[in-house]
Amino acid sequence: MVKKSKLGFVGAGNMGKALIEGLLGELSPEQITAADLRSEALESLMALGVQTSTNAIDAVKRQDLVILGLKPQVAGPVLQELAMHFSPKQTVVSMMAGVSTARIEELLPENVPVVRVMPQTLVRLKEAACALCAGRSAGAEQMSLVRSLFEIVGTTVEVSEGQMDAVTGLSGSGPAWAYMVIEAMADGGVRTGLPRDIALKLAAQTLIGAGRQVLESGEHPAVLKDQVTSPGGTTAAGLHKLEEKGLRDALISAVQAAAERSAELGQS
Ligand SMILES: NC(=O)c1ccc[n+]([C@@H]2O[C@H](COP(=O)([O-])OP(=O)(O)OC[C@H]3O[C@@H](n4cnc5c(N)ncnc54)[C@H](OP(=O)(O)O)[C@@H]3O)[C@@H](O)[C@H]2O)c1
Repeated sequence: MVKKSKLGFVGAGNMGKALIEGLLGELSPEQITAADLRSEALESLMALGVQTSTNAIDAVKRQDLVILGLKPQVAGPVLQELAMHFSPKQTVVSMMAGVSTARIEELLPENVPVVRVMPQTLVRLKEAACALCAGRSAGAEQMSLVRSLFEIVGTTVEVSEGQMDAVTGLSGSGPAWAYMVIEAMADGGVRTGLPRDIALKLAAQTLIGAGRQVLESGEHPAVLKDQVTSPGGTTAAGLHKLEEKGLRDALISAVQAAAERSAELGQS
């Protein structure tokens, strides 16, 4: 179904562009219209064959899915101006952090289905972890359409809107935690004598492999950890150090702090 849909992007900055680039290959460029105020932001998309416009109306009119890649601060005025061009036959997908489906619905004509997503720019690599939640008028058909779109670019889950701040804290901000873990592991490698490039390659691939193992085996990570920890061995010595230094506590606190900040920003 999504392969036959027409997609309009209102806002093709970092996030919008990353999603378009991740979708191309599975979707054809002729299916996509990207609108942004900055023509220079559209140049690379134009080179990929995507239809581009500096007028957001072109990304709304006659599109099946309208994907909002705007900054939250401009959502109100921009959607007010575009409102008359939306129809309940379309599905609106908002990637805007902290903007509720109710707020978007308020700005659009009645009964326009809205689906909110918390994506990652990792969509470009088709390795993103995305979460969706349905607005008031979005039913199973719209959710399945949007889900199939985001499954092209990674793993997708459905949550309730009340869980969106937690999602923002975990997978929204999570790539930054992972980059820090990779950097620190590589620093450890350098500290113990490895060249930087080799240390980084080993650290990054270790996280990719471990993540895939968790997803593909379906095993609890604690079971997998026990499987690679031999009595009195090197890993046991390292794990003891991580417990002593509070790695788990640090990561749990980071997710919680980011989720709280997301809730705070959503109020303002
Ligand atoms: N970047 C991420 O990692 C990430 C992750 C998850 C969610 N998000 C969400 O994705 C959304 C976009 O973030 P971003 O990082 O892509 O921001 P961005 O790079 O600033 O992109 C937003 C784009 O929208 C354009 N724009 C503003 N008004 C417009 C209008 N009336 N019509 C068409 N285009 C318009 C902006 O142009 P001007 O610059 O000229 O205003 C800008 O190029 C945000 O709501 C953010 O919360 C981002």
